[in-house]
Amino acid sequence: MEKFIVKGGRPLTGEVAVSGAKNAVVAILCAALLVEDEIILENVPDISDVWVLTDMIEALGGDVTRISSGTYKIDCRNLSTYVADVEKCKKMRASYYLIGSLLGRFHKACVPLPGGCNFGTRPIDQHIKGFQSLGCSIDIRNGVIEADGEELHGGQVYLDVASVGATINIMLAAVFAPGNTVLENAAKEPHVVDVANFLNSMGANIRGAGTDVIKIKGVKNLHGGTYTVIPDQIEAGTYMIAAAATRGDVVIKNVIPKHMDVLSAKMVEMGIEVWEGDDEIRVVANKSLSRVNVKTLPYPGFPTDLQPQMVALLTTVDGTSIVTESVWDNRFQYIGELEKMGCRITVDGRVAVVEGGTHLQGAQIKATDLRAGACMVIAALCAEGESEISDIRHVDRGYERIVEKLSALGADIKRTND
Ligand code: EPZ
Repeated sequence: MEKFIVKGGRPLTGEVAVSGAKNAVVAILCAALLVEDEIILENVPDISDVWVLTDMIEALGGDVTRISSGTYKIDCRNLSTYVADVEKCKKMRASYYLIGSLLGRFHKACVPLPGGCNFGTRPIDQHIKGFQSLGCSIDIRNGVIEADGEELHGGQVYLDVASVGATINIMLAAVFAPGNTVLENAAKEPHVVDVANFLNSMGANIRGAGTDVIKIKGVKNLHGGTYTVIPDQIEAGTYMIAAAATRGDVVIKNVIPKHMDVLSAKMVEMGIEVWEGDDEIRVVANKSLSRVNVKTLPYPGFPTDLQPQMVALLTTVDGTSIVTESVWDNRFQYIGELEKMGCRITVDGRVAVVEGGTHLQGAQIKATDLRAGACMVIAALCAEGESEISDIRHVDRGYERIVEKLSALGADIKRTND
């Protein structure tokens, strides 16, 4: 089983380039099923979620060719089925996007309930509510979602929660739905906007992505073309936090600074220097930092996907910080691993009280999910001595070449195979 071996205590310095956004590309790859033409997709991150999804597309009859590093040619003219592969779907959460795209393409879909990070219940009731509003019938039998959309039509959907997945999935199902679809209380994350931009560049008619109300006018078909995936907001934030936690000086390149606003503001509040360029952000943390409180919220609030990484940073800052997780009901499971390194954190439901000023000690820890894995890496980079991080397959789902990127910043990190 592969592990990371990290020797901590070295400030990160230098430059790191952010890859394409995982949570955009997993949706865009599913959206490609709607396009009966050739697509060239650029800035695709080399991560395992992409490998799994491209396998799924080929299992459905699509053709995916890696043209060069980060660039794929996708051709879904010859899809042969609307039944998704069970084992592949269980490996990730984003497989649920196959429901919306297969419904849009075939008016039918058979997709197993998704897998993905385990931090509490991860319902899909809002996805189902949206599909039903478009005239689809949904049955769940033996863990498989069977969707029938023979009478697919535009509809009105008001989401109970601003769900990223439901927003994108309903958008996918509505692209060809005759008439108009209005989606209210929509999620506004950058990756939601990127999926809408991808679809519109292929001939869809989607307006309002990035606001609370998205309007989709059904079109007859989509044409091919070339599209470049946006930079990964969460990968960028992870490196910003790692730079600050190690008291380093790092330029994070290939970012959209606007996407990082809430993290940049929180860092400035802590006394970290944040310098913004057109497509880069420099983080300098060479003096004592102040504790802060953090509350995760849907975009443009503080991203829940940066919550674990932020807790790692806050353990190194004097004083007590309060972190409230408003999006997921059980996203502090990784705290037990941090406590092995000497952290003092009290969790009560969705609130974590972080006693700062900890001199982290290297330990044998494990990645309990994707972003918890990033938290373990950051903590190990700050810790005195050596840490061994296991279950790093979670980290490889969402961070391209993390060992190479951190090593180039001066980190002592290696990947080993037991
Ligand atoms: C996406 O998950 C991301 N995954 C998650 O990132 C991220 O944490 C989450 O959005 C929130 O930003 C992908 O994009 C592949 P939601 P998703 O639907 O779509 C409730 C990572 O680390 N909800 O926005 O599953 C749900 O319980 C991953 O990259 C319902 O109640 O999240 C949660 O409380 C981890 N019913 C809230 O909404 C539904 O039908 C937000 O969930 C759907 C969601």
